[in-house]
Amino acid sequence: MSGGRFSHLLRVLWQAVLVSGSKLWEVPTAPLGFSSNHTTSLEWEPQCQYRHLQDGVRITADIPPKLEGNWVSTRCEVRPGPEFLTRSYTFYPSHLFKALQHYYTDSGCEEPTYSLVVRGKLRLRQASWITRGATETEHHLHKVGIVIHSQGAMHRPAARLPSVCVGLTLGGMVPGHLYELYNAQAGRACLGALGFSMMELGLVRVETQHKPHGGLVQELFFGDVHTDWTKRTYYRPTGYQQPLQNAMHHIHPCPACALVFRASEQRPPVLPHVPALARPSLHGRWVSQRCEARPAVLFLTRDFTFRPDEHSWEGFYHHYSDPSCSQPTFTLQASGHYAQGDPSAKVAGGTEFVFKVTRVSVTILEGATARVLNETRPGSCGKVGGWEVGVEQDVTATDGCTVLGIKLPHKEYELFKTEMDYRRRPLLFIGERPTDGSSPDRPQKRPTSYQAPMVHCGEEDTPTSYHHTNQLKLAASGAKNLPWQPSFVLVLVSLLLLWYDGGTVHSV
Ligand SMILES: *[C@@H]1O[C@H](CO)[C@@H](O)[C@H](O)[C@H]1NC(C)=O
Ligand SMILES: *[C@@H]1O[C@H](CO)[C@@H](O)[C@H](O)[C@H]1NC(C)=O
Repeated sequence: MSGGRFSHLLRVLWQAVLVSGSKLWEVPTAPLGFSSNHTTSLEWEPQCQYRHLQDGVRITADIPPKLEGNWVSTRCEVRPGPEFLTRSYTFYPSHLFKALQHYYTDSGCEEPTYSLVVRGKLRLRQASWITRGATETEHHLHKVGIVIHSQGAMHRPAARLPSVCVGLTLGGMVPGHLYELYNAQAGRACLGALGFSMMELGLVRVETQHKPHGGLVQELFFGDVHTDWTKRTYYRPTGYQQPLQNAMHHIHPCPACALVFRASEQRPPVLPHVPALARPSLHGRWVSQRCEARPAVLFLTRDFTFRPDEHSWEGFYHHYSDPSCSQPTFTLQASGHYAQGDPSAKVAGGTEFVFKVTRVSVTILEGATARVLNETRPGSCGKVGGWEVGVEQDVTATDGCTVLGIKLPHKEYELFKTEMDYRRRPLLFIGERPTDGSSPDRPQKRPTSYQAPMVHCGEEDTPTSYHHTNQLKLAASGAKNLPWQPSFVLVLVSLLLLWYDGGTVHSV
């Protein structure tokens, strides 16, 4: 990538970062003049209005975060693989922790396979310079044990476990009995074979939602799990997984919370059956429920509209430089067509889709990036010299925008799931992007896990005016099929704003 041309700008930013980042808990955010231990944020309301703090929910995040207490999954979680699990983590004032992970054969977390009991110590280190708003930690595992829940289910973990690790023949493993996989003192280490790691503990954030009429919801975010199985045991997270909620301060109703809270490794939680929606109906508009973080310093909110009768879609990706999504950097608007495939054979409950991007527009909302784009090679990113803050540019004619990693034409292999939340609002889960910033442009790269769910807007919230405009533009330009790599954009911008050091990008 043509990093050299930005080096002056980036060096200046970098120096500013170094100067301001001298204190452990002060987040180095000089480029945008943001510095605080405590951040507030907005929340997307179900009616799809961006409501301000005063009349909506106020979200705060303390740095360093307070982890003490018990934190539980609010639903059946899906990790790359796929793996289906629920988690219950307890942190003690002594810095000791006990993490329970329950794994299942099915996507509804109704048939437990095995549970892991992980004990160790966690210390907070410093505010993360890579993922703003996060805190870096250091953990040491003391013991990890496994309990298998049924003879029938045994083949799954056992297939990956050398028999010596449990000191028994595989056939001899007794359901309900605790076997030690790891013991720091005894030198027993059988975790690698299981693909197990607690690298997720390396990055934490706690958010507190203050409801307008009193009441709290506290959420604990741990680092993301790499989408590539072979990298998960050493990947240092820069994004988050879906949060756990505090067992004392969680959303209501949350049937899963109570079940997960009361469970143990001997009695894993069995979540209530949720009838599957036969085929997902994407119709209408869906928006992010919160400011979302992606690996490598990207904060964004998404806003998609699907029109199944036309097999067409349109998406806005609003990018921000801060974990509260209050400082916009740029917006991508993409549109195109999609085809719905079969239910996924690999990820029960998911459905396969193929997306085509036929048009992309970019609106830069911050000066430094606009200036950089203004200087790109002619024909590589929209109109040369045409970049102004706040002015949308269609980059379809230049087949995307090289420096932003947008390359058209483009196809993506997707995994979608729709589900009702406990308030009977439809939720849409879209596949998780590959952690390495690439795009799922081949069937083999199709996701096996999901991003944070988006919530459905009522019909009255579905904008209609700009759809017509877009269709006109499309017709007028005779648009080809265009491709695109949104996650890469974020890498670029984060690189621009935060993390450039004499030509070396620190990929962590
Ligand atoms: C951030 O928190 C630390 C530790 O709690 C405190 O010492 C420091 O003064 C705080 N800084 C700001 C800017 O609030
Ligand atoms: C981009 O270049 C044009 C033409 O030279 C100029 O008018 C515009 O202000 C530039 N934009 C930025 C953000 O510097």
